[in-house]
Amino acid sequence: MGILEGKRILVTGVLTDASIAFSVAKLAQQEGATVVLTGFGRLSLVERIAKRLPEPAPVLELDVQNTDHLDTLADRVGEHVEGLDGVVHSIGFAPQTAMGGNFLNTSWDDVATALQVSTYSFKSLAVACLPLMKEGGAVVGLDFDASKAWPVYDWMGVAKAGLESCSRYLARDLGKQNIRVNLVAAGPLRTMAAKSIPGFKEFEDSWPDKAPLGWDLSDTLPAAKACVALLSDWFPATTGEIVHVDGGVHAIGA
Ligand SMILES: NC(=O)c1ccc[n+]([C@@H]2O[C@H](COP(=O)([O-])OP(=O)(O)OC[C@H]3O[C@@H](n4cnc5c(N)ncnc54)[C@H](O)[C@@H]3O)[C@@H](O)[C@H]2O)c1
Repeated sequence: MGILEGKRILVTGVLTDASIAFSVAKLAQQEGATVVLTGFGRLSLVERIAKRLPEPAPVLELDVQNTDHLDTLADRVGEHVEGLDGVVHSIGFAPQTAMGGNFLNTSWDDVATALQVSTYSFKSLAVACLPLMKEGGAVVGLDFDASKAWPVYDWMGVAKAGLESCSRYLARDLGKQNIRVNLVAAGPLRTMAAKSIPGFKEFEDSWPDKAPLGWDLSDTLPAAKACVALLSDWFPATTGEIVHVDGGVHAIGA
């Protein structure tokens, strides 16, 4: 018996097989879940990647900036599963001008895009899935520690700080419906999103040395394990929490 036996989980954010979401979807299936995926933009690529999962999983289109996609999401997911026990938000984007050391000059339009896609969408996605979560469940998002200002991360860092706050407010408002809301703050991983950050190498160079447990930049499994644990019944009284899966860097002053 896996820890997600019988659970129905919506996983957003699969783009390549290096995506954190791919690892979450794979592990969730291995732990017994039925998984439905959403993809953004390059749907044929996502469908091709989805075929590498242990079980075939349907892929639904979701651009979190598209109100129609959000409004119809529950109905479209409902064509594949009768309800949802868990939702994974693994979505982030900021225009190039919003990262890489341009903090003082980024325009509001670019900041607004980063915030809508990376922060506000956590709320949009959770609310869009509520009609399918009548029996409660778990919402899990992917975070990057926003308690400090990092090199190059810039407005994406601000978006993640907002995500951390958004998660606490969602936990407050969805608790009555027995829905837990938590984040996994992962260390740097070599995904498409990471490659789009100008200067990401600064994280890559320093993180493995700083981490008390060491850190493998290409291993998404530790973050996926934390997501799956939070989706399971093994954190029944935990909500509004941030679980750091970063080799321990957040705890070390360096
Ligand atoms: N890679 C890292 O170092 C790292 C570390 C901590 C947290 N995270 C977070 O993990 C999450 C997943 O990123 P990843 O690293 O697996 O990279 P990724 O590029 O594989 O995934 C990012 C996903 O966001 C999706 N996306 C972008 N704009 C969207 C939109 N408008 N609507 C819907 N989806 C959209 C992309 O299609 C992609 O699937 C992000 O929130 C990211 O910030 C990443």
